[in-house]
Parts: sequence; structure tokens; C-alpha cells
Amino acid sequence: MKEIIKTKQEIKVMRAGGRILAQVLQEVVAAVRPGVTTHQLNELAEQALRSRGAKPSFFGYGAEAGNPYPATLCTSVGSEVVHAIPSPKLKLKSGQIVGLDIGCWYQGLCTDMAVTVPVGQVAEAAQKLLQVTAESLRQGLKQVRAGARMGDIGAAIQSYVEVSGFSVVRQLVGHGVGHSVHEDPPVPNFGRAGTGLELKAGMTLAIEPMVNMGLPEVKVLADSWTVVTADGSLSAHFEHTVAVTKEGYEILTLI
Ligand code: MF3
Ligand code: CO
Repeated sequence: MKEIIKTKQEIKVMRAGGRILAQVLQEVVAAVRPGVTTHQLNELAEQALRSRGAKPSFFGYGAEAGNPYPATLCTSVGSEVVHAIPSPKLKLKSGQIVGLDIGCWYQGLCTDMAVTVPVGQVAEAAQKLLQVTAESLRQGLKQVRAGARMGDIGAAIQSYVEVSGFSVVRQLVGHGVGHSVHEDPPVPNFGRAGTGLELKAGMTLAIEPMVNMGLPEVKVLADSWTVVTADGSLSAHFEHTVAVTKEGYEILTLI
């Protein structure tokens, strides 16, 4: 339990790493257009991280389980929820949405961040899915402060998403982050206010709502990474790494 509370110095390092991560993700987002391959976005992300003295944290993740993730970025298109592997064969097309998820190591600590963006012009319903998912992350963030409960975050995200007519993925959750890509505590995007772990100053959390246009169920494809919606509906994902403070929170993945 102790190492999930970071020192001021550790949070300072994560703030620096998180800034690099946000800058790199902004560069990747700027490169999204019809015709670009997800592999090209991945190459850009890796170069941009390394040129800033950081390195990818997803690459090789899962090796102990015999299933190392093979890239810097996750590029999840359309009904792909998260963890889709970039490919030189996958050219983005106008009208699609693409989730871009990235993590880095910087001076021994890691941060994690994701956004979902339109490719070219997208349908109004897809645009609404992006807006609602981004706003659900803000609603979750607003609950964060020392003394709040984990369920406060999940309840805020879930209720905002469901009132908006979409559903929250239950099979995957956010997580503590810093000493490893995924560490304790789990951070569900659903739940009941006033329940769950009490948040403490110095915790660093990756809060990452995954929101489906249809049903909440997801499944993993045969590549053992790509998570897709079970009903084939569109899905969006936004993520920030934040530090819990006495008064509230600090987003560490900001430019
Ligand atoms: N941001 C992702 C998550 O929290 C991390 C991707 S895991 C990896 O699930 F395997 F792709 F590295
Ligand atoms: Co994450």
C-alpha cells in the first residue's frame, strides 16, 4: 500500500514525464488524417518520446505472461475499445474515430494518457460520443481529493455517461500508475458514491473511461490484445494521469 503514495519528488518527476507524454500525444493527434497508417502514428510517437529523453512503457508490457505488447501506441479504431496494435496495413479513413493511448517511462517513473479523435469529418453521433466520453473524464476528475472514495469517481462517470445515452465498459478499469504501467488501486468507471477505497494525497491514478455507444460488454480478439465492443458499436476512450492532493487533484499529463 505504501508505494502507491508518491513523494513530492516522485510527483515532480511524473509531472515532467506527463508533460512530455502530452506533448507527444499532441504531435500524434496533429498527424491524424485520412490515409495515414496507424503504424506511421506509432513511429512518430516513438521518435517523439525518445527525442525528449523518455521511452515507451507499453512496448514489451505483458512479457512475463508471454504476451509482450509490440508497440509504443495503442490505436483503436471504430468499435475497437482499447489496446489495438498499430499496423502498416491500416490506413485511417475519413469518418472513423481513433483512440490513441500512450505511456512513457521518464526518470524511472511512468505516466499514461489517451484521447479519441475524429478522422476527417465524422457523423454527429460519433462526435457526441467523443464529447460525452471526454466530459465523463472531467466529471470523474472533479470527485478526486484526499478523503473522497473511489466509488465517487466511478459513480460520477457512470451517471454522466448513462444520462447521455451511452454505456460504460465494466470489464476494464483505470489504475494506479507510476512505478509500473498498471499498479494498485483499480479505478473503476462505475460504482456507488461513498463506497470503496479512501483516496489519499500522493496517490497517482490513471483515470480512463471507456464508453460504448451500445451495450457495455467487450471481448478480446485472437491477437490477445485488441478489445472490441461485443455488439460492434463505436467506442471512445480518454485518459489522464492525476495526482491526488489535499484540496483536489493535479493532472500530470498536461502540455
Ligand atoms: N493505457 C493502457 C491501459 O491502461 C495501457 C496499455 S497496456 C499495453 O490499459 F499493454 F498496451 F501496454
Ligand atoms: Co491506463
